[in-house]
Parts: sequence; C-alpha cells; structure tokens
Amino acid sequence: MVIFRKTALLKKHLSGLREQGKIGFVPTMGALHEGHLQLIRTSGEDNALTLCSIFVNPTQFNDPQDFQKYPITVESDIQKLESAGCNILFLPSVEEIYPGGPDNGKHYDLGHLEQVLEGSFRPGHFQGVCRVVDILLSITEPDVLYLGQKDYQQCLVIQKMIALTGKPTLLRICDTVRESDGLAMSSRNMRLTPDQRSIAPLIHQVLNGARRSIKAGDLRPYQNKAMEDLRNGGFKPDYFEFAHADSLELIQHWNGTDPLVALVAAFLGDVRLIDNMILN
Ligand code: PAJ
Repeated sequence: MVIFRKTALLKKHLSGLREQGKIGFVPTMGALHEGHLQLIRTSGEDNALTLCSIFVNPTQFNDPQDFQKYPITVESDIQKLESAGCNILFLPSVEEIYPGGPDNGKHYDLGHLEQVLEGSFRPGHFQGVCRVVDILLSITEPDVLYLGQKDYQQCLVIQKMIALTGKPTLLRICDTVRESDGLAMSSRNMRLTPDQRSIAPLIHQVLNGARRSIKAGDLRPYQNKAMEDLRNGGFKPDYFEFAHADSLELIQHWNGTDPLVALVAAFLGDVRLIDNMILN
C-alpha cells in the first residue's frame, strides 16, 4: 500500500494508474473496524485499484467535544488496510483538504434530507459531510464510491450531492457489518463501558422486533413501543422513526407496499449510537 499525505502527489500518482482499470474509493475517518474493511474488500473485488482516505473531518462535527474525543489509531489502521488489500491510502491534513480554512464552504441544497432525523439533531452535519466528500471525490475522481448502509441518511445525502454536482462517480451501498450480538460496528463502540456495551445490542433487537411485527396501517404504536423499550433498557433515544426508504419522508401511516426503513439514534451515557433496518 502506498501512502500519500499531499493532494498534488496523490493526483499525479492516480493519473498514471487510470488506464489499469477502475478505481474504487472508500472514505473514512479512521479507527477502522470490520465494517470499514468490508467496504475495502468489496471495492477490491469490483475494481483494479482501491483507494481509502482517513480524515477526521472537522466540518461535520456539530459537537466540538465529539470531534475532540474521536479516536485516532493510524498505525493499526494502516495494518488493517494492508491486510484487507487496500492499494492506496490518502492521509491528508486539515490544511490540505481546506486550503482556505474549514469555514465558509459551499452550501448544498439538500432540501428535506437535511431537515429530518440526523439533519435536525445534528445541524450542519450533512453540509460538512457533503463538503468533504465533494472535495475528496474531486481529488480522487474514482469510478465507484463505497458507503455503508449503517449511515443510511448519509448515503442518501451523498447520492444527492453527487447528483447536484454532476459527478460521474457511481455509488455502491454495502450492508451493515455487525458484532455477533447484533450491535452495528462503529468507531464509537470503543467508548462504551463494559456495562453499556452489554446493553448496546438492544438497538438491533428493537429494530428486529419492529421488522417482525409491523403491519400496514398506523405505525405510531410500533414507534411508541420501540422508544419505550429503548428507555427501559437504559438508552436516551433521540428518535425512532419509520421513513420511505428512497425519499426519507417520515411515514406514520403505512400502505403496506412503500419501501420502509426504520431509523434510530440513541445515547448510552455520552455515546450516541445510530442504526437502521429496511423492513420490507
Ligand atoms: P466513518 O464513520 O469512518 O465511516 C466510513 C464508512 O464506513 C461510511 O460509509 C460508513 O457508513 C461505513 N461504516 C461504518 N460502520 C459500518 C458498519 N458497521 N458496516 C458497514 N459500513 C460501515 O462516515 C464517515 O466516516 C464520514 O462521514 C465520511 C463519509 C468519511 C465523511 O467524512
């Protein structure tokens, strides 16, 4: 694996490689786990070359504490990427990504997508995500971008940013990788205490419970039950919502045929976990 810290050198390197075949790109913020590595492996199967970036993007943290506490584990990340078959790692500084400073960037008209769920609980978050991914795609110009379903709303937001900016990159969304007890893998899981870690799989159980029992009609009883189960289990939920799987319009009364996704965000102590499940 070759490592680049400078945009100009990475671009030069990539320009000499494009004729070898397709390039797959996996953007990350590091503290890598099996979820990230599965994206790398999937890209490796689809493409001649796989490029990964590690950049803890300051513009997407609405909570400065969260940014400060974000785990940094570059040495072990490099080893994991090598073993997953990554070919190129981009490890830029903040100055390299935001030469004019991280503030006052471009604004993306994301409409409804940034007003609901994560958009309303984390103001500005998706503008920061769009900004950094737009910049990374402009630098790397990959054929295919790999994202995880774990961050469901992020996938729809980035899809919209790609459409708004007219980029030719295809998006491939990969399944959420889970621990054996169902907890979605996340860099934030390492901040859970042993007690919190033992409670954490309840999020997945609640989603599964909704999937098994849900029927067309009023969805509010299912929503209320999920919120209650999470609270009784020790979580402080921000939301548990049902939404149209393509548009993310919230659905309270389901016709039984629209593609439906359940999305949840909940705190365990000061660790905020998110998860989702497609229900039909
Ligand atoms: P990060 O949280 O590091 O995640 C990088 C990619 O890994 C995202 O596409 C995310 O959805 C995916 N991922 C995380 N956990 C996963 C899991 N358990 N199973 C499958 N995929 C998983 O998401 C970001 O970084 C940033 O917002 C980023 C897109 C890099 C922009 O800064």
